[in-house]
Amino acid sequence: MSSTQHPASGDQACLLALESSCDETAAAICTLGGELIASRIASQIEIHRQYGGVVPEVASRNHILHVRPLVEQVLADAGRRLADMEAFAATSGPGLVSSLLIGTSMAKALAVAEGKPFVAVNHMEGHLLSPFMDGNGPVRPCVALIVSGGHTMLVRVCEAGRYELLGRTRDDAAGEAFDKVAKMIGLPYPGGPEIDKLAARGDPEAFAFPRSFLNGTSLEFSFSGLKTAVLYELPRLDLTSEQTLADVCASVQAAIIEVLVEKLVLAAKSCGETLVTVSGGVSCNRGLRAALAARCEELGLRLLLARPDLCTDNAGMIAFAAVQRFNAGHTSPLEADVDPNLPLVR
Ligand code: KG4
Ligand code: ZN
Repeated sequence: MSSTQHPASGDQACLLALESSCDETAAAICTLGGELIASRIASQIEIHRQYGGVVPEVASRNHILHVRPLVEQVLADAGRRLADMEAFAATSGPGLVSSLLIGTSMAKALAVAEGKPFVAVNHMEGHLLSPFMDGNGPVRPCVALIVSGGHTMLVRVCEAGRYELLGRTRDDAAGEAFDKVAKMIGLPYPGGPEIDKLAARGDPEAFAFPRSFLNGTSLEFSFSGLKTAVLYELPRLDLTSEQTLADVCASVQAAIIEVLVEKLVLAAKSCGETLVTVSGGVSCNRGLRAALAARCEELGLRLLLARPDLCTDNAGMIAFAAVQRFNAGHTSPLEADVDPNLPLVR
């Protein structure tokens, strides 16, 4: 279990948030000023690895086991009591229904027990706003790229809560492309971090995998062709050779990175925006972070990236997004249902 603690934040008002949209159970406490003071994650990766992906039924059973102890742990980390919380928040979608229900049910139960409001949070808004955490706030206009396991989208942020969708993937998400290719070449789940590691030792030009730019001005993505290209290459590859494996990883990663970086740049140019942010699990990727830093510096764009532990699923980002909603006067009715396909922009 990983944790973050900053119990120094005195007696500032705060809220507690839960995240259980997929295979990580997480709890966090954030001050209403946006400072994360406690964050813990109970990861289920080892459990799901043996199946090569997330098994929803197993995920929800494990959320049930972990959620209550996590609440106790973050309260202890922050030196607070339940009664000190101003609100209780949870991810209400998108994600796996049976997983979402655990976090939202617990947050609603705590809200009722303590007589405090419940705040439903969109998981993608958590990712979207995460680059503004850690002293990078306040949330302000920018062009944002979200790259996670289930989503790849370009969003124009006008202010917290006001977003415009600029483009999204037509097929696989970037994280999905990493994970599917990794599975094809025999790497364990989740494949993104494995490819990241091996790519560091490989030649990114060893294989010319396709970059799907669709057309010169489109802000849509497509990664399914990359997967097919790797599939066609497989019979010719000796994957027992460490160098070949590293070269495939480096070449696949380079193809994904180039498309992500150039589409983000294109979106920033087309919106006349100089601040860009990148979030979601794939934004942990070291090659992507380096390429973004270099390209943004070259073009005079300001780049905000979340801390790596805030890029992959966590409750800190959900707490931070909940704080933005709560401070703007938005809370959610207890009847608010979970939605596995909850859109970020309606
Ligand atoms: O945001 P996230 O934790 O969960 C979703 O909301 O989907 O993203 C998970 C995705 C997975 O596809 C995982 O392989 C990918 O992020 N990922 C990475 C890296 N770390 C996680 N992809 C590339 N390089 C990484 N270092
Ligand atoms: Zn996520």
